[in-house]
Amino acid sequence: MKVETPPEGRIGARIHGFHPNTCTKEQAATLRQLVYRHKLLVFTGIDLDDQDYIDLARQFGKPQVYFQDHYHHPAHPEIFVSSNVPMDGKKVGVAGTGRFWHSDYQFFDEPLSTTFVLPKIIPEGHRATLFVDMVAALRTLPANLRRALESRSCFHEAVMYYKVQPGDIDRAIAELMAEFRRLSPGAHHPAVITHPVTGQQALYISEGFTMGVDGMPHEASQQLLQDVFAHLRSPALVHEHEWGAGDLMYWDNRQLNHMSAGGAPGQGSRSYRIGVYDGLPFYEGCKLLETAL
Ligand SMILES: [Fe+2]
Repeated sequence: MKVETPPEGRIGARIHGFHPNTCTKEQAATLRQLVYRHKLLVFTGIDLDDQDYIDLARQFGKPQVYFQDHYHHPAHPEIFVSSNVPMDGKKVGVAGTGRFWHSDYQFFDEPLSTTFVLPKIIPEGHRATLFVDMVAALRTLPANLRRALESRSCFHEAVMYYKVQPGDIDRAIAELMAEFRRLSPGAHHPAVITHPVTGQQALYISEGFTMGVDGMPHEASQQLLQDVFAHLRSPALVHEHEWGAGDLMYWDNRQLNHMSAGGAPGQGSRSYRIGVYDGLPFYEGCKLLETAL
């Protein structure tokens, strides 16, 4: 196994010559330390069948079963399917997921610590995942914004990204939103979190899921968030990983925002995500719930 580290100050190490079917606990532990250090790992030359992919994810922690079952792979609920290509003539998963800045499961009390994504069908042309380094984002945040946020928490929810399903026809949007909120009422987390392994602080806010800053008047909260979101779009903070055949991405949600990008309309695309709880608190002071153990 060869580790190609990123240039100083950048994220994303590339791992060459990794053989997932023979990955040991010790090797997984080493790779976990690497993902905490470099925030994103890209394994190259990977070819995995579905069960082997789940078995690999288990070496790194506890695979998540996503709370909405229409995202599940028909035979493997641990695999979250993003796809616009039918499987055996049937719709599978959900098309066009994650095309907004977010951190996975930020809207739950126990967010998802790490994520694997394995592209299965790569469209011609440009198809990528974009990342923002939230440690660097905090370090470079203008001082007035940092002061305004530092000791506050934010509220996160995902209702605006609910994907309407075929069975929702003739139902009111208000009813669909209320049903979604019963399953997923949102969560409060500190605006600045401390990583349980590296001890580094990161900004924990995303344009997709962060709805407001707790304890601030609505207008001021929205203005503050808009200023932070503008900072998060700074080109110097954004890293792009263009999908290549055989790539497997693995990242740390505590330190990154990400979004799906590219893929021209009408072009087939499919990827398999497995969310993995690494068994550590999401941030210092965050409760570790049963789901994550
Ligand atoms: Fe995501």
